[in-house]
Amino acid sequence: MQQQSDPITWRDGKIPVSTRFDDPFFSLDDGIAETRHVFLTGNDLPARFRDDFAIGELGFGTGLNLLVAWDAFAAAMPGATLRFTSFEAFPLSPEDMARAHRAFPAFDDKRDALSAVWTGADGSFDLPGLRLNVIFGDARETLPQWTGHADAWFLDGFAPAKNPELWSPDLMAEVAAHTAQNGTAATYTAAGDVRRGLAAAGFDVHRVQGFGRKRHMTRARIAG
Ligand SMILES: C[S@@+](CC[C@H](N)C(=O)[O-])C[C@H]1O[C@@H](n2cnc3c(N)ncnc32)[C@H](O)[C@@H]1O
Repeated sequence: MQQQSDPITWRDGKIPVSTRFDDPFFSLDDGIAETRHVFLTGNDLPARFRDDFAIGELGFGTGLNLLVAWDAFAAAMPGATLRFTSFEAFPLSPEDMARAHRAFPAFDDKRDALSAVWTGADGSFDLPGLRLNVIFGDARETLPQWTGHADAWFLDGFAPAKNPELWSPDLMAEVAAHTAQNGTAATYTAAGDVRRGLAAAGFDVHRVQGFGRKRHMTRARIAG
């Protein structure tokens, strides 16, 4: 599916900010460290990695979370394959993604491999040690149709107050329905509505220390 990109603005010339949601795509402090803290540690990764480990993500954005997870997986599991499926309604143009990647010069080969397949259409892409599946469209419509299950979820919509549709109780129920046995979810927000939505969906939910200026974040494990 080919999709029209939203206009974005740039903070400090390098951090993309969604004009639609009035929110930056990644942390203004240190996006890579935040991803590691929130989404990797929040899902007990890399300790749980195994061949064919499946990550699901709401909000592909710049692909920063993918690059961080892929890099950690490649270091922990050489020769194995990570499955990463992300749901995205307003994909960045190839030009904006390339510009966003300049803010994090690590991951050189992986950035280049992602850029090479990021031509403005979604689909499945086989990259070294990675099976990437990006599904364009509103996650409220696309996630219910997905036939996969994730071992770990990265819940990464914009701030719940600005992007409530990506945090609704109905969508959290879909996340739970698409979570493997003993699967987990993590997000940077500790908003009460989000935690209640995850709990109602069948997760055991914990509020833990957040990254940087954010005091708390949320970890969740599907109740067995
Ligand atoms: C904070 S950004 C994600 C950042 C991203 N994970 C990264 O590594 O750069 C939130 C993303 O959610 C997407 N989004 C917002 N509403 C959506 C919806 N209803 N369905 C799918 N994606 C949505 C936005 O377009 C945006 O790319």
